Amino acid sequence: MNREKVQIFDTTLRDGEQVPGCKLDTKQKLVIANRLDEMGVDIIEAGFPVSSPGDFLSVTEISKIVKNATVCGLTRAVKNDIDVAAAALKYAKKPRIHTGIGTSNSHIIHKLNTTREDVIARAKFAVSHAKSYVEDVEFYAEDAGRTDNDFLARVCEEAIKSGATVLNIPDTTGYCLPEEYGAKIKYLRENVKGIENVILSCHCHNDLGMATANSIAGAVNGARQIECTINGIGERAGNTALEEVVMIFKQHPYLNLYTDIDSKQLNEMSRLVSESMGMIVQPNKAIVGANAFAHSSGIHQDGVIKNRSTYEIMDPLDVGVNESSIVLTARSGRAALAYRAKKVGYELSKVQLDIVYTEFLRFADIKKEVLDGDIHQIIEVCKIQSEL
Ligand code: KIV
Ligand code: ZN
Repeated sequence: MNREKVQIFDTTLRDGEQVPGCKLDTKQKLVIANRLDEMGVDIIEAGFPVSSPGDFLSVTEISKIVKNATVCGLTRAVKNDIDVAAAALKYAKKPRIHTGIGTSNSHIIHKLNTTREDVIARAKFAVSHAKSYVEDVEFYAEDAGRTDNDFLARVCEEAIKSGATVLNIPDTTGYCLPEEYGAKIKYLRENVKGIENVILSCHCHNDLGMATANSIAGAVNGARQIECTINGIGERAGNTALEEVVMIFKQHPYLNLYTDIDSKQLNEMSRLVSESMGMIVQPNKAIVGANAFAHSSGIHQDGVIKNRSTYEIMDPLDVGVNESSIVLTARSGRAALAYRAKKVGYELSKVQLDIVYTEFLRFADIKKEVLDGDIHQIIEVCKIQSEL
């Protein structure tokens, strides 16, 4: 069976940058956009040009430097937004306008204070107006996750007729279950006329911790674009994490889906975004967290030292981490201590290891983590006590 490509649409610079306190200036955005392009991202959502002069400038400058990826600008279904986005994208080799409107009852009644028919009319106008500027137009049905499938299918069909090339089905509030989101994509594939001519895109938020699972369910059911951010940053609990999607497809080849991302750049990319935004990555974050390849309990350490595959499902080198780490704590066993002692220059016999291990446990009960310098100190104490 042929493997099919899933396009990676990175929205770190748009949805990701909406995080409170994580503002980036144009220079920082250019550095990130350039790295995303080098890493193999297919589409870079560079910003929301009408939102501020700074964002307009960023989208313009990013459009000038990006060599391979499509550069995308977000708009509401509003004429002026689209005019401004088109102007900001003027220098892009491959420009895309991403326009759309809320389609759930909640959005139609409480936010837009209008009717379903008006939403369809505005969607049609927005897509055709964007199409007058660029060939590549992506339409988003905001809050599609909570939109009933019949109405969503009608909106999607009208967007296709008006010229959309990509249909984005956002779970804006991170509400869906993976089965539900996957079934929604399947329903659209089976019930929307012309759907075979467009790409379906997943844009999932993480309010219930299911953004990545939902995006994967979407892809398994036929979506061929996933919208995501580095480190999963984004509004509230964030967006689908790019690094997770990339490694899931890589580690599960039977899905027959792949991306063009150079996974070896993931760790470096994570660090760049974290440092530029001043937003720390939680240590237990999948793939790029500081503890993602750290082993601290005795049983796990013993297993990993014997064979990495006992407790690691991927090679750290594949995500740009040089090696997994054996962290020494009071939960560590003799195997881990011997391994780390050897790394700092001590080859301990079985008897010596028993002696040092007793002293090590005394030390580790006081100090949370035993570092290389501590190992030297522990061994020297044992020597002074003439136990070695
Ligand atoms: O979450 C969302 O619905 C969005 C759209 C604007 C695409 O970010
Ligand atoms: Zn979003």
